[in-house]
Amino acid sequence: TTEIASLEAQLQKLDVSTPIPPYNAADFLVNPIDIYRAYLADTVAAILPIVNPQLVYDSIQWTNNPAHGDLIVVTPKLRLKGTKPAEIVVNLVSKFPPSKLFSKPTASGIHLQVCFSPETLPQLLIPYILDRRSAYGSDAVAGLRDRSKPTSAKKKIIVEFSSPNIAKEFHAGHLRSTIIGAYISNLYKIMGWEVVNMNYLGDWGKQFGLVAIGWERFGSEEAFKNHPLSHLLEVYVKASALFKKEKEKVEETKARKEDTSELESQGIFAERDAFFSRLEAREPDALALWRRFRDISIQRYTEVYARLNTFFDDYSGESQIDPKTIDKVQRLLTEKGVLEESNGALLIDFKKHGAKKMDVAIVRNRQGTSTYLLRDLAAVLEREEKYGFDKIIYVVSSEQDMYLQRLFKSIELMGFNTLASKLQHINFGKVQGMSSRMGKVELLGDILDKCGEKTHEKMKENEVKYKQVEDPVTTADTVGISAMMVQDMTGKRVHDYPFDFERMTSFEGDTGPYLQYSHARLCSIMRKSGYTNEDLQKADLSLLREKAAIETLRLLAQYPDVTHTAFKNLEPTTIVGYLFKLTHQISSGYDNLRVVDIREGRDVSIARAAYYDCARQVMFNALSLLGIKPVERY
Ligand code: ARG
Repeated sequence: TTEIASLEAQLQKLDVSTPIPPYNAADFLVNPIDIYRAYLADTVAAILPIVNPQLVYDSIQWTNNPAHGDLIVVTPKLRLKGTKPAEIVVNLVSKFPPSKLFSKPTASGIHLQVCFSPETLPQLLIPYILDRRSAYGSDAVAGLRDRSKPTSAKKKIIVEFSSPNIAKEFHAGHLRSTIIGAYISNLYKIMGWEVVNMNYLGDWGKQFGLVAIGWERFGSEEAFKNHPLSHLLEVYVKASALFKKEKEKVEETKARKEDTSELESQGIFAERDAFFSRLEAREPDALALWRRFRDISIQRYTEVYARLNTFFDDYSGESQIDPKTIDKVQRLLTEKGVLEESNGALLIDFKKHGAKKMDVAIVRNRQGTSTYLLRDLAAVLEREEKYGFDKIIYVVSSEQDMYLQRLFKSIELMGFNTLASKLQHINFGKVQGMSSRMGKVELLGDILDKCGEKTHEKMKENEVKYKQVEDPVTTADTVGISAMMVQDMTGKRVHDYPFDFERMTSFEGDTGPYLQYSHARLCSIMRKSGYTNEDLQKADLSLLREKAAIETLRLLAQYPDVTHTAFKNLEPTTIVGYLFKLTHQISSGYDNLRVVDIREGRDVSIARAAYYDCARQVMFNALSLLGIKPVERY
């Protein structure tokens, strides 16, 4: 294809023989390191008595530590009988021919360590990145892929995330789900999947009955008009307070294993359940109230999600499930003999189905109304009908680990093994002390406001710089939100972390503001240089010799491998950790790699600018992948 041809033309200029040797799993148009892997595999295969060079290609790994080279050949994987791996390595070192692409390799036990030649790396990599720009690191861009390979139809995924409950607090669990979910959605998109962002609202159930009970007593049209979300929350909080004593009594009684039906048939308990029964019976009055609350919540949420760069394709929710599908689920479970009756309720005893730890779960309430689990089961069937997905990822806190296991197991028990295998739970740990450190916050908008305010305060501390920022309030908002997001994505998902308001908004250390600052600095270098993209395309990159630049380029070359690793583990920290490594490296080179007013002359200046523009582009791509809006001035 023409894209491959232009790569090969470039290689020929560097005196590298072409065509690029083909290997399975090599994607030369997407990953520049694959080009190196292919030539390395050929070189190694020519030295050793090897029949199948693909075996060599598959034994090459990239390294996390630049001191260990850029690529290593793991020689035991070559499966050469009769020679010790360490001896193979020594043999390879002594016979490795001089190369335009590689420096002389070194031996490290069973590993052959190979470095990209600093002579040719800039000329190979910089045009590669500048040709791809925002597509660098992604697999998805049409026309970029090697067209000689069969392209399978796009796969479809539903990423279900955020999913707050109407009239209730937007807590740290919803916040993390929103951040991690958006990231996973972005990842699947750049890997060429068709992605549906779904918000599964908690807008049904007995809890919604409680909101309605509260509205009758404490609702104010005036307050609802002015601040709908906070007023609904206020109503819910008051209703819960009213309900508290009754609820405790029922729980105590349950704990004593005594019957609670008497207690549940009176007071707020009965009122709440009656309202939910009216909803499930689709009574117009009840539905009208529910719809008002739902519509305004979606409208307000959409505005706030935009500040997080997050958009949903489908605001589904527990309320949206068709009662017919609910009945179908019940019928299927009954037919499979897994539903049991107990005290008027219907349940699944997972212990009887090879899942001891999952214990028992109620599927239908004693009042005949549906449960969270029953609605979720029906939702799977409806999503299959509507979207025909290849996969659903549920981004939900670890607190619901058991719940989601039950959900997936129940799909299996209905006889849908293939369907069940398409469902995946991505979980995450808790945030400690968010409210206590930020002051009382209960709505997403308030959380974001606080992050912006705090960052604004910090920006004011540096008066000179502050005066240069054009729109400090907007910048503070964006940077403050990235501060919070980077804090959230720095550790592994499953780990709990303490909310540290001071640290996360600091400009020093591995923080969001530091990343934003580094990106803005690169933007500023490009602005001040005044070079056009055309100038950069024509740069004489053989002039780029400084060690600091080469070290950065070695990291930039890894970016496609990094996004592929992230795609496998779905850990935001894979990208965040890479970004910190990269920014530290770029920063260490500023003094020796100045662009404006340098005595080395214009050609060197342009070569350096091209280098900085690649660094800026990769930072931009990685920040965007995380769902962060990169700022240009700050
Ligand atoms: N609304 C739920 C909550 O706040 C989360 C929904 C998770 N998704 C699901 N399909 N159950 O706890």
